Amino acid sequence: MSLNGFDVSHARRLVDLAASCLGPVKDAEILPAEAYVSEEFWEFEKKVIFSREWLCIAHVNEIPNAGDHLPLTVLDEPVLVVRGEDGKVRVLSAICQHRGHPMVGGVMDEPAPGVCLNAQRLVCPYHNWSYALDGRLVGAPSMNETTPVQTLRGNIRLPEIRTEIFHGLVFVNLDQDAPPIAKSLGKLDREFAGYGLETLIPGHVFAQRDLKWNWKLHHENALEPYHTDYVHKGYHNAVPAELTQFCDFDIGDGQVMRTTGFAKADGDLFEESGSRRLPDISGLTNEQRGRVLFVSLMPNTVAVLQPSFVTITFLNPHSAGRLDSRRVNLYSPQAARTPEFDRIRAEQFEQMKVIIMQDQVTQAALQKAYQSRYAPRGHLSHLETAITQLNQWIVDKYRRGLGELAA
Ligand code: FES
Ligand SMILES: [Fe+2]
Repeated sequence: MSLNGFDVSHARRLVDLAASCLGPVKDAEILPAEAYVSEEFWEFEKKVIFSREWLCIAHVNEIPNAGDHLPLTVLDEPVLVVRGEDGKVRVLSAICQHRGHPMVGGVMDEPAPGVCLNAQRLVCPYHNWSYALDGRLVGAPSMNETTPVQTLRGNIRLPEIRTEIFHGLVFVNLDQDAPPIAKSLGKLDREFAGYGLETLIPGHVFAQRDLKWNWKLHHENALEPYHTDYVHKGYHNAVPAELTQFCDFDIGDGQVMRTTGFAKADGDLFEESGSRRLPDISGLTNEQRGRVLFVSLMPNTVAVLQPSFVTITFLNPHSAGRLDSRRVNLYSPQAARTPEFDRIRAEQFEQMKVIIMQDQVTQAALQKAYQSRYAPRGHLSHLETAITQLNQWIVDKYRRGLGELAA
C-alpha cells in the first residue's frame, strides 16, 4: 500500500531486516544499506521520525537581543527563530499568511542562510505585510478596500511552532501531541550539569549545504571512535579510541552518548601538547575536565563537549543522501575575554576543520558505497557499541510508526 509517497510494505520489509541490528554488539549487524539510500524509505522516516520527534535547531545565544531572528529550514519548512521584546524565544513559520511568500529570501538581496538578522518588525518582501516579533500581524498596506487591517489583525499571525528550551538549546516539534522533551533527556540533563550550556557564547558558525550522506551515517561516525585512529591518524591522538566509555542507553532515551578520555592531563581535542589554550568552563567536575563527551541528540544533532568549548552540529536532512549542517562552537564568557580569543578560536577552527573534512570524505564515500549490490551487513567492533544503541533508538521509532500506520 502506498501512502504519502512511500510504500508501507517496503518500509516494513526493511524494518524487519533491521531486527538483527539491536545488539548485543557481538551479535549485531548494521542496518540494511537500502535504509540509507532509498528515497522511499526517507519518506517513511520523515513521517515516523522527523515529523514527530523534538528537533534541536539553534542555541539561544545565537539570538541574544530583542528583534534578533535566525532564518532556518526544518524539514523543508522555512522558520524564524525569534527573540521577542519580552525576551522569549519563539519559533515561527516563515510562510507569510497573505499569499505565502517566505518572510526571508526569495528576493535579489537575499541574506546569507543562517545569519542572524535584527528588526523590530518581521516584514514580508512580497507586499510588505508586517508582523510583530511574537508573530501577530501588524500592518498590511492597501488592504482596507477589501478587508480592513483591523479585522486582519484580529485573526492573522505567523503560525508558532511548538518550542522548548533545554540547557540553552532550542528544540521544535511539528507534532502538537508529542510528550515534553525533558521526559527523554534525563541522562543528558545529568551529563550537561556543570557546562552551563545556556550561558555559553557562539564564537564560530560553520554552515554547509547539500552534504552527500544519510543522517544516520552522521551519527554513527560521530559516536564510534573505532575509525579515529585510522581516518584521523596523527590528528586525534589527544583522545585515543581505547579511552572510550559508552554510556547506558534505554529505550525511551532521547540521546546516545560516549566519553573518551584525554591521553594527557589538560588535553585538548585539537592539541597534543597537553595544555589548553582557553580556560576550562567553570563548574566542571574533575571527570568532565579529563574527557570529551560525544552526544547524539536524536535524530538531528550531535554535540561534542570539551572542557574548554562545546560544538553543536545541527543537521537538516532533505533527502536520503543529502543534508545541510550548521556547526556552532560555543565558548564560556571567561574564554571570550581571553586576550587573543579571536586568533585562538580561528586557529582551533582550522585544526578542527581538518578532522571535519576527513570525516566528510569518509561519510560521502560510505554513502556512495551503500548503493553497491555488495554492500555488507557487517559485524561490529566493541568500539562501535554506540551504533547498536543508535539503532535501538531508530528501530523503536520505526516500529512505533509502522504500528500506528497499521492501526
Ligand atoms: S505574500 Fe507576504 S505580503 Fe503578500
Ligand atoms: Fe571522525
